[in-house]
Amino acid sequence: MSILAILEFPDKRLRTVAEEVSQVDDSIKTLVDDMLETMYSAKGVGLAATQANVPKRVSVMDVIEDKDAPTCLINPGIIETQGSETSEEGCLSVPGFFEKVSRAEQIRVKALNRDGESFELEARDLLAVCIQHEMDHLLGKLFVDYLSAFKRNRIKSKLEKIHHQQGR
Ligand code: NI
Repeated sequence: MSILAILEFPDKRLRTVAEEVSQVDDSIKTLVDDMLETMYSAKGVGLAATQANVPKRVSVMDVIEDKDAPTCLINPGIIETQGSETSEEGCLSVPGFFEKVSRAEQIRVKALNRDGESFELEARDLLAVCIQHEMDHLLGKLFVDYLSAFKRNRIKSKLEKIHHQQGR
């Protein structure tokens, strides 16, 4: 397994709309494993392939504290949503910033797992938030898009400054 480089806002590649996975072959399984290792190593709760500059509809997450319950969603689609709730979100592509975002409180999702099998999942609370956040990534959308232009631009300039200092 290997650790993948994570793109950071405002990198334009994060705006790429990911393509459906036509077949869950060994390359996709390796991608899933690398994404999980990358996510755990970065201490994140979720990661979308887009963030690793792989524009495929693959996302992984693990919101359990013990970090022993990975979920992999390939070609995810939301079937049903219920309610709405606001919670603080962060993102490995927007390091160091946490802001409140409103999302559906409860969702029902259909996806393929790491073995390419179709399954449905009911999620609420943090897992529901995480799934919606990762599915946004697959559409080229970031949580900062839900913020005011003022807040988004402030985050953008702060990160650009850090990237500049890092020589990127
Ligand atoms: Ni994110």
